[in-house]
Amino acid sequence: MLIRTATADDWPRIWPFFQAIVAEGETYAYPEDLTSDQARALWLEPAPGHAVVAVDEAGTVLGSAKTGPNRPGRGAHVATASFMVDPAHGGKGVGAALGRYVLDWARANGFRGMQFNAVVETNTVAVALWRKLGFEIIGTVPGAFESKRHGYVGLHVMYQPFPAPATA
Ligand SMILES: CC(C)(COP(=O)(O)OP(=O)(O)OC[C@H]1O[C@@H](n2cnc3c(N)ncnc32)[C@H](O)[C@@H]1OP(=O)(O)O)[C@@H](O)C(=O)NCCC(=O)NCCS
Repeated sequence: MLIRTATADDWPRIWPFFQAIVAEGETYAYPEDLTSDQARALWLEPAPGHAVVAVDEAGTVLGSAKTGPNRPGRGAHVATASFMVDPAHGGKGVGAALGRYVLDWARANGFRGMQFNAVVETNTVAVALWRKLGFEIIGTVPGAFESKRHGYVGLHVMYQPFPAPATA
């Protein structure tokens, strides 16, 4: 598996699983009537954002992630990230690889930590994965997400600080 910068040419391969994941109604609060162009603009963020795809040897897009500053201006030293793995390729380590990639990218780009703003509490695979990668739940906004299956459920804010770089 290779993780590389996503280009506009990758979007037709991302859009089907982006649509499927949003339509499932369990993990993201994107509007369900986004057009492909609107979704592309939200996902393939220009710099200082950074969007990537995970591809296999045949070039098949397995999943995608985007990262960048969580806030502009005086919040821009904390990164954030979002992830979507094609359900057809789930459970094969793609999400974990994308998670490690964005953490490395954020550390290498001088961020001081990474914050996830809205991890749905019933998304137990994601919550467990982010914990394994070093995130902790800072708090939970009760009922902030309307899950198709579970009704109103909480949204976790998850965070991990990065160690300060060693000084000589
Ligand atoms: C969450 C998500 C990114 C995980 O990606 P993935 O490629 O399926 O995850 P991985 O294969 O790297 O697996 C990570 C861990 O989750 C476990 N896992 C993955 N899918 C699972 C499933 N359906 N049921 C149970 N466990 C599962 C794996 O076994 C692995 O656990 P381990 O580290 O103990 O072995 C992916 O499911 C996804 O895109 N979900 C929809 C969108 C989403 O939730 N994005 C994140 C929002 S915060």
